[in-house]
Amino acid sequence: MKIGIIGLGFVGLSLTSVLASKGFNVIGIDVDEEKCRKISNGNSPFFEPDLEKTLKNGLKKRLEIENDFSLVQDCDLIFVTVGTPQNRTGAIDLSNIKKVMESLGKNIQNTKKQHTILVKSTVVPGTMKDTILPILEKNSKKKAGKDFGLISNPEFLQESTAIKDTKFPHAIVLGGYRTKFMKKIEKFFVKLHPNTPIIITNHQTAEMIKYANNSFLATKISFINQLSNICQKIPGANVDDIAKTIGLDPRIGKLFLNAGPGYGGSCLPKDMKALINFAKITGTKPTLLNAVEDVNTKQLEQIINITKQRLGDITDKKISILGTAFKPNTDDVRDSIAIELIKRFLKKNAIITIHDPRAINNTRNIFGEKINYAKSITDALSKSHCVIIMTQWKQYEKLSSTKFNGMKRKIVIDCRRMLVGKKLDVDYFAIGVGKKN
Ligand code: UGA
Repeated sequence: MKIGIIGLGFVGLSLTSVLASKGFNVIGIDVDEEKCRKISNGNSPFFEPDLEKTLKNGLKKRLEIENDFSLVQDCDLIFVTVGTPQNRTGAIDLSNIKKVMESLGKNIQNTKKQHTILVKSTVVPGTMKDTILPILEKNSKKKAGKDFGLISNPEFLQESTAIKDTKFPHAIVLGGYRTKFMKKIEKFFVKLHPNTPIIITNHQTAEMIKYANNSFLATKISFINQLSNICQKIPGANVDDIAKTIGLDPRIGKLFLNAGPGYGGSCLPKDMKALINFAKITGTKPTLLNAVEDVNTKQLEQIINITKQRLGDITDKKISILGTAFKPNTDDVRDSIAIELIKRFLKKNAIITIHDPRAINNTRNIFGEKINYAKSITDALSKSHCVIIMTQWKQYEKLSSTKFNGMKRKIVIDCRRMLVGKKLDVDYFAIGVGKKN
């Protein structure tokens, strides 16, 4: 059996590498020639723990990386993992996926193989039936369900644990008609992940599951962020003890209850917007979803206000930002709250220095010479008026009083509560912790 994977981003490249490392005959396809060359040489275009190791392992076996789309003709299973970015209205932009489907349709037109196409890209309910299926049928002159299989297969992996999540998913969702293709794919997944629950449903439910998942996670984060704002007003209260305790209730669960600067990244903010937009189209008022977004947006305002309260006028003040990646163990800065914060500070003419163990290059691509890039935490703090911890990189946990000695004013704003409980000779403020004085 040959497996084709179209689109080598986080989801596609992780899947390509994991399947190839398990010995499957895999071909990874991407339009970007340079990216393909890099991957073929065993280098990942982005930082993701264990990805390169898994990729290199796969390359030793039966993995090919190409930018020739016609190679899908030989593939029995074709995973589509191209991005569905956000457009200006908040809806998803389907242009990439439409192009892929057109080309896929044309390429499978004259083959004798009974291909099964699995769509992992995040799309709003109805997209498979109303957009993807007609494009495929028109361009292939074949019938879905009879000549080829078409299955929605949403993905739940997280960046920074993408390889682990691909190897051990918590659930597999297969959306589509119960055809011979569905039976074959179910068997494939049972063999691949024997202990993972498989949910077989229709296309539109599978599509909705993905949005339900991400919007619920966003809701948990906004919930705890809202609570953290209340805690800040209660001297001595700490939101983490509250999260830890409610997390012990199995009906709540302990994960995704870390208060912080708000959710960022390329998925949660985009999916929330798309779901809100979609709800409106269906005539449903997305009251809760709007509130979740609103709390998220206001977290950023809060950090700005706290900085102003402690620092006064921020014009010409040197502000150090520790962490620009949207979370630790990634170099991804897409929709990172830290990036938004820097943009807002720059508008007020603050002087920004950043430190991040992985994301300096991606941050430089956004700001160029407008900000300073420190090689070490000490450099970042030197002569600074205020430091803001934005990403919970492990190394920031070790910060002690002496590290802050080089600062002009020792104002520390800890958006991840990494230094709570430490004896620090600084003006310390942590999001979600009520000041005692
Ligand atoms: C998210 C989902 O968690 C994945 O299940 C999903 O597959 C993926 O989107 C996707 O749709 O592709 P990811 O974007 O990698 O994964 O990042 P998360 O780990 O969900 O974190 C998102 C943001 O929430 C980060 O800014 C993080 O700092 C923040 N967060 C997360 C918190 O502020 N508190 C928490 O307790 C957890």
